[in-house]
Amino acid sequence: MREVFDTRTDPEEVARQLRFIEEGKKITEKLNAEAGRRMKACVVTFGCQMNARDSEKLTGILANMGFEMTEDENADFVIYNTCSVRDNANQKVYGKLGVLNTYKKRNPHMKIALCGCMTQEESVIDKIQNSYPFVDLIFGTHNLYKFPEYYVYMMQKKGMFIDVWESTTKIVEDLPVIRKYPFKSGVNIMFGCDKFCTYCIVPYVRGRERSREPEEIVSEIEKLVKDGVKEVMLLGQNVNSYGKNLEKKTTFPELLRMVEQIEGLQRIRFMTPYPSDFDDDMIACMKDSKKICRHIHLPLQSGSSRILKKMNRRYTKEEFLELALKLRRELPDVAITTDIIVGFPGETKEDIDETLDVIRKVCFDNAFTFIYSKRTGTPAASMPDQVAEEDIKVWFDEVLSLVQNCAKERTALLQDRIEDVLVEDVNSHDSSLVTGRMSNNTLVHFPGDRSLIGEIVTVKLEECRGFYYLGKRL
Ligand code: 5AD
Ligand code: SF4
Repeated sequence: MREVFDTRTDPEEVARQLRFIEEGKKITEKLNAEAGRRMKACVVTFGCQMNARDSEKLTGILANMGFEMTEDENADFVIYNTCSVRDNANQKVYGKLGVLNTYKKRNPHMKIALCGCMTQEESVIDKIQNSYPFVDLIFGTHNLYKFPEYYVYMMQKKGMFIDVWESTTKIVEDLPVIRKYPFKSGVNIMFGCDKFCTYCIVPYVRGRERSREPEEIVSEIEKLVKDGVKEVMLLGQNVNSYGKNLEKKTTFPELLRMVEQIEGLQRIRFMTPYPSDFDDDMIACMKDSKKICRHIHLPLQSGSSRILKKMNRRYTKEEFLELALKLRRELPDVAITTDIIVGFPGETKEDIDETLDVIRKVCFDNAFTFIYSKRTGTPAASMPDQVAEEDIKVWFDEVLSLVQNCAKERTALLQDRIEDVLVEDVNSHDSSLVTGRMSNNTLVHFPGDRSLIGEIVTVKLEECRGFYYLGKRL
């Protein structure tokens, strides 16, 4: 029988964790008094937008427990919110943990926690227990909302405290959050993934697909807008599958139409749609909308139907092309970006040529190109014919260079256009410039100061610099 999932936040659990936050605050205050200074905490995020959003939740909780937040990892409490989608992300965490240990030896207050996708892997827990015994707390993706409770336990006992769950039916969303950017926010609309692409660890570490009630999502966004948010990013592994487990079925375009009505909200983004579930209603919804940004991230993974089948992707090369070219026709101002994996088991130069062919035909506005990474426990990890590293390197460079040429070609088309830009920051290289994003996600730098951060301003795109523009405020 299919498990029944909650679709609404659990208010009792929220109240319980708020009590732990109060208890945590007392503990921090005591430490502050002992040390004669304020305890500092640092949250380090690896991986995707989902993790970035989770880190904002952890930051909100830590700040409410009395910590001063810092970006310096030489702090009193450091949390690594990890990613395990590719092995190099795991390796990076192990490397950085070694450095944290040197800080910890010098700071008697220091505590170290690990959470996120990596901690859902059993082999990782074994390795941490054996080789990194100085880690104080480990929790997983399903029980992140229990962090206040875990913090209190951790401070009361010695040794490593571990609680990782295989799954959950609960949704707990109303705990304090501190956003990285006051003017934009991710919003979880669903959790988990049911697609089981054969290379991907996500379904194992994030569990089955579960959607939140549309009313809860809308009410969260209304609150965010009251708090100054202009742009939301609706987050899910497969946003087009949104609403399937809800009692009153709601489709993703229906949700988008509800979000569109929210007064004061100016921009809507979403991440990530699945190609074969991107239907005509979705196209109609984007056509009609004044708020949905002109950007679709549509992961191709491979352009070879043979490899797509082995990846358990539910479309062929021809079907992907048909959709992408339809999007180009129907929504000509929309940027299409993608993800591509090079070196999937059994891949040959002929398969790569098919991928290159799709890239050429769609001319993606941008693409993330990844070298296939073997993830233990996924079906692809035990497939024969793992590809030789030398071949992967050559193919990867070929794919990357074509992708970059297409991106430049597409960016150049925007020359002299007048666009609305949401200003995100002061330019990190030149403080006389500010940096923002157009609706289609292209970066623009133009003269301006800090006071523009969070504003949507009209900019003329004057000088194309490859993947971005220099502009002038009108
Ligand atoms: N190896 C390489 N890339 C992967 N991705 C997911 N799993 C793997 C893997 N095992 C990529 C896919 C996905 C993106 C988020 O990460 O392209 O779309
Ligand atoms: Fe992974 Fe495929 Fe699910 Fe995306 S759709 S998270 S690639 S299993």
